[in-house]
Amino acid sequence: MTIDGSSSDLAIRRLKIPDEADVCAGLMSGSEPWKTLRRTYEEAFMMLTDPAREVYVAVLGGEVVGFTVLRMEGVFVGYIQTVGVLPGWRNRGIGTRLIDFAERRIFQRFPNVFLCVSSFNEEARRLYERLGYDEVGELRDFIVPGHSEILMRKSIGPLSGYKKPATSDVHLLRGQPSSDITEPVD
Ligand SMILES: CC(C)(COP(=O)(O)OP(=O)(O)OC[C@H]1O[C@@H](n2cnc3c(N)ncnc32)[C@H](O)[C@@H]1OP(=O)(O)O)[C@@H](O)C(=O)NCCC(=O)NCCS
Repeated sequence: MTIDGSSSDLAIRRLKIPDEADVCAGLMSGSEPWKTLRRTYEEAFMMLTDPAREVYVAVLGGEVVGFTVLRMEGVFVGYIQTVGVLPGWRNRGIGTRLIDFAERRIFQRFPNVFLCVSSFNEEARRLYERLGYDEVGELRDFIVPGHSEILMRKSIGPLSGYKKPATSDVHLLRGQPSSDITEPVD
């Protein structure tokens, strides 16, 4: 782990409204890829506070340093809708920890994790590929003209007959401990 040499200080828990939603919406409306995708602060704030989504923040020393938004209902469940880390905290493993958390949350109920990455966001796509995501489709001109959203999936089996794995099996699948889940899930 690369967060100041210690992983134990990073907690992942539910977003607190409105202050933490304000921080995350500010990040989204002020930086890429969301600027190119024309995401406004108001739209981001609405998404982050929508009760139909599960929103988690990564907290280090009392400060929100990243977040992830999950959809646990719908066609392509479970879906990591967004993951973001504050600029000063990137490249220290926090994004990987948030995705790992999201995967363990989703694999509690479903055998697939879906996400979309913008065609111009090559760095994020590299991260997802490294974490085991495969491209399953291209949605051309999906959010803004001239750019695609690439649908990616990580799967541990078919939907039919899927049984929630024992927690220890999920750890083995991920090859990582689960000590950062700070609240019970399902
Ligand atoms: C993508 C992101 C969540 C990853 O979080 P992180 O804490 O920086 O990631 P980690 O430290 O776990 O992993 C580092 C990897 O993230 C990716 N990455 C780093 N900076 C990035 C950036 N500014 N934008 C996109 N991806 C980035 C790279 O693949 C990097 O690995 P590599 O350069 O060694 O190949 C974070 O960089 C971010 O918020 N980027 C801007 C928003 C974004 O692109 N979100 C994803 C939308 S689909």
